[in-house]
Amino acid sequence: MPSLVRTLAVALLVTSTAYACDSIPLCCATMYDGPSPEATQAIQKAGVPSSDIVYPIGVGCIPTENPPATYILTCNSPDTKACCDSSLQNGLAYNCTAMN
Ligand SMILES: *[C@@H]1O[C@H](CO)[C@@H](O)[C@H](O)[C@H]1NC(C)=O
Repeated sequence: MPSLVRTLAVALLVTSTAYACDSIPLCCATMYDGPSPEATQAIQKAGVPSSDIVYPIGVGCIPTENPPATYILTCNSPDTKACCDSSLQNGLAYNCTAMN
């Protein structure tokens, strides 16, 4: 049953790539997957307590939507669209998942 197999494969692909974002996706200039001198500097600059940080983090981030939807931003490379668990603090967000 090749067509059934194909249908299931497509369904799995859609399920695994569709990433639900609890908050508005962000568009970040830079992502840091783990600690580095640059990341530490960005964290200090944003004034976020380092004890709060969960990697990956995004810096230079802005929301891709401005409710009530006065704009929707397309986020193109080299910027990274990301879904972050934290709120945005001076352009920094943490516990992020890159979406592109
Ligand atoms: C990170 O975010 C996920 C959801 O995106 C959440 O379930 C998890 O608790 C968060 N981790 C921490 C350490 O805050």
